[in-house]
Amino acid sequence: MRYALPLLCILMSLPAQAAGDPKLGKPLHAKQCVACHVKLLGGDGSAMYTRKPRLINDARALTQRVAACSAQTNAGWFPEEEAHVAAWLNQTYYKFK
Ligand code: HEC
Repeated sequence: MRYALPLLCILMSLPAQAAGDPKLGKPLHAKQCVACHVKLLGGDGSAMYTRKPRLINDARALTQRVAACSAQTNAGWFPEEEAHVAAWLNQTYYKFK
């Protein structure tokens, strides 16, 4: 517990993009996120990220959305895991700079 706050500060000071590794995000997303999007939209669920208009219009909003969704689904992800998933979604679908 004593280390939680300093650790959180270090993690939050990392730029989300730099911290995220798309290769690590892909399997996390497949496990926790895809099924519900498929149920809603069919196909492979990716229509959620390519629809128009999209909810998410910049990298910051994407990171926040991933964090909110992971909290809602009780994924129990650490901030760096959220960053991996955001990085993978960005690389694959959103392509924000
Ligand atoms: C229980 C169902 C469900 C689960 C599980 C779920 N989502 Fe979603 N997601 C939704 C719905 C519904 C929307 C559309 C919300 C809207 O249109 O207001 C959405 C939208 C999104 C969007 C925005 C798409 C856009 O328009 O740009 C992102 C990003 C996203 N989800 C990421 C995730 C991630 C990451 C996870 C896994 C941690 C996840 N979702 C898990 C139901 C779910």
